[in-house]
Amino acid sequence: MGRTVFDFSNQVAVITGAALGIGKRSAECFAEAGAKVFLIDINVKGGAAAAQGIQTRGGDAAFIECDVTNAAAVKQTFETIMDKAGRIDILVNSAGGFYTQFDTADTPEEEWDAVVDRNLKSVFLTAKSIVPIFQKQQSGRIINLGSMAGLTTLNPASPPYAAAKAGVHCLTRVLAFELGKYGATVNAIAPGTTATERVIAVRNEEQRKMIGKATLVGRIAEVEDMVGWVLFLAAPESGYLTGQTIAVNGGRLMV
Ligand SMILES: NC(=O)c1ccc[n+]([C@@H]2O[C@H](COP(=O)([O-])OP(=O)(O)OC[C@H]3O[C@@H](n4cnc5c(N)ncnc54)[C@H](OP(=O)(O)O)[C@@H]3O)[C@@H](O)[C@H]2O)c1
Repeated sequence: MGRTVFDFSNQVAVITGAALGIGKRSAECFAEAGAKVFLIDINVKGGAAAAQGIQTRGGDAAFIECDVTNAAAVKQTFETIMDKAGRIDILVNSAGGFYTQFDTADTPEEEWDAVVDRNLKSVFLTAKSIVPIFQKQQSGRIINLGSMAGLTTLNPASPPYAAAKAGVHCLTRVLAFELGKYGATVNAIAPGTTATERVIAVRNEEQRKMIGKATLVGRIAEVEDMVGWVLFLAAPESGYLTGQTIAVNGGRLMV
């Protein structure tokens, strides 16, 4: 199969959760397509290495350490990026996830708060910084990483994660409503299970095959399956699409 060639020359892309997985590969692909990329993550070693990797291949990348659940840190990060780059064209909110699966009765309150903050408050905080920038520019794109877990429940789910991702899909619509008048679009993708480094570490090959068998296309998603959508949602061709959550799950769930 061929590969669509995207062109993001002269554009500035900010990607949260860019040290690993979908965020990291999105940053690499935006840089390959000519964008100046800012990689945001709490993981300093991974984020710096990801930015360094892009630079080594001739891309324009910088890493900024930021906890996207911390309002002051997020505000400072966006001010730093505007000082350095003067504009932001694309924001990808990929920071998220959860680390322990609890049932509701066993979920510690701290776990609820941490997972909701990581997955939902983070999108609110970055939006607070980006809205005035897009208003001034009269343009911009936001791509949020939601989840199939926020659309339906097919497996045991982390309660705060599923609820937060449903919130991300909702906030995507609210932001699309607010930002349309500035010529900016806001969309989300809701991935099915995707074979990132973290998923490969916790699901063996047999389990990944079983996940693939539950889809219509017969395989687990690769990171590239998600990144293509992230780039497309930032491309000029998708300018009439806003407020949508694209369910990218190999047909496991059709909505
Ligand atoms: N992979 C899947 O199967 C899948 C399925 C559906 C939805 N998604 C969603 O897609 C997005 C990307 O998933 P992924 O699997 O590529 O993620 P990942 O590999 O787990 O990477 C997420 C990155 O975000 C960072 N991060 C976590 N909390 C942060 C914070 N407070 N501030 C800044 N950075 C933070 C993580 O750092 P640490 O490693 O230090 O925590 C990590 O580098 C997530 O929102 C996830 O929920 C993934």
